[in-house]
Amino acid sequence: MTCIINTVAVEKPGSLHLIYLLYLGFDPVIEMKFVRFIMKNASLASAPQHIEHFSKFSPSPLSMKQFLDFGSTNACEKTSFVFLRQELPVRLSNIMKEINLLPKRLLATPSVQMVQSWYVQSLMEILEFLEKSPDDQSILEEFVNALVNIRNRHNDVVPTMAQGVIEYKEVFGQDPVTNQNIQYFLDRFYLSRISIRMLINQHTLVFDGATNPVHPNTIGSIDPHCQVAEVVKDAYESAKMRCDQYYLSSPDLVLQELNTNNRNQPINIVYVPSHLYHMLFELFKNAMRATIENHKEGCNFPPIQVMVGIGGEDLTIKMSDRGGGVPFRKMENLFSYMYSTAPKPQMDDKQRAPLAGFGYGLPISRLYAKYFQGDLQLYSMEGHGTDAVIHLKALSTDSVERLPVFNKTARRNYEVTQGADDWCVPSREPLDLAVFRLAK
Ligand SMILES: Nc1ncnc2c1ncn2[C@@H]1O[C@H](COP(=O)(O)OP(=O)(O)O)[C@@H](O)[C@H]1O
Ligand SMILES: [Mg+2]
Repeated sequence: MTCIINTVAVEKPGSLHLIYLLYLGFDPVIEMKFVRFIMKNASLASAPQHIEHFSKFSPSPLSMKQFLDFGSTNACEKTSFVFLRQELPVRLSNIMKEINLLPKRLLATPSVQMVQSWYVQSLMEILEFLEKSPDDQSILEEFVNALVNIRNRHNDVVPTMAQGVIEYKEVFGQDPVTNQNIQYFLDRFYLSRISIRMLINQHTLVFDGATNPVHPNTIGSIDPHCQVAEVVKDAYESAKMRCDQYYLSSPDLVLQELNTNNRNQPINIVYVPSHLYHMLFELFKNAMRATIENHKEGCNFPPIQVMVGIGGEDLTIKMSDRGGGVPFRKMENLFSYMYSTAPKPQMDDKQRAPLAGFGYGLPISRLYAKYFQGDLQLYSMEGHGTDAVIHLKALSTDSVERLPVFNKTARRNYEVTQGADDWCVPSREPLDLAVFRLAK
């Protein structure tokens, strides 16, 4: 059967009212596509109402124990499905409300618009499961596939947002208020993203029916006995490989473990090894680069020293380098998304120095640490070197997700304006004391 469709006017893709189609024939395939197109656009149009509705709920932070229970032997896919089809829209909607509070000129950049459209689309895809029965096995399978699609769609969120910030900076420059605004937003936005990916990863990994061949004891992405020193060594080896490729040499590693709880045992915690690896890899790359750049003349580099310690509450990893350090004045900017000094990222540039990236290594690593109630801090001694310290919770009962929530306080944080400084600004001119001399 043949079909001719005359599209008379299609203005602004996505806007329904302006589409006039003239059917002069009939083709079920084309008609199906057309119906799907109409349905998709109709559902996207209702997105703001859904965002409004779901953003009224607070996200529910999960503890390590709850993550493990979801994935233990009596794991129930139905329970996880019913939890996620509510929780994912809540987390997405909470952060989508904040995207709208970004400075208008940043929000309008093509990159931020694109990220926003991914969020809307993913939200709507999950909502399709709200009315579906958890007792239907094919629905559960469809849900896993939908989650995998969503995860893939959001793969490039970080570089795309970074691109948005660059587009903004190129046109409007940098100022402290926008910097504060972007810092506040991106920290929350990326933390929310880490948490959403964690939920998606757990569900898809636990319920795909396969066990991890390399680490059979992991539950989804969580290792109940994550051996911290092993992850340190893995991250060191990967960074060393990159460093050797680029500089043809690399500093050694001196690793020390202090297990006050059990002296002869390697330190282990319940944790997500990939998160820990991410942080350590970033810190090693920075430490290696600084060490080599600071010892250009020789090849006998001082080693990078890593100490892993555990107590009743904290697990601490300290990485010390002798890379010359950073002046104190600049420390805060190292974690800034806007003041990142890294050159403009070239997404397809294979020539980029392999030890430096977007300038996002530190801020994103700090978010991974914060996600389960930890932190990452840098202490530097200019002229000597830097200590980077990762603090994590030693007990799984303390490792609970840290999640942003959209409320009045959050909204107020986007309303900062530049007021007068409440600290004196020293004058550059020498003070003319003659003015104060008493007339004789
Ligand atoms: N250990 C260190 N020693 C000296 N400078 C450091 C160290 N770690 C980080 N820095 C400085 O902080 C900047 C930001 O680091 P990072 O966020 O990892 O981004 P990138 O490595 O992509 O530049 C680095 O470019 C470097 O100037
Ligand atoms: Mg780095």
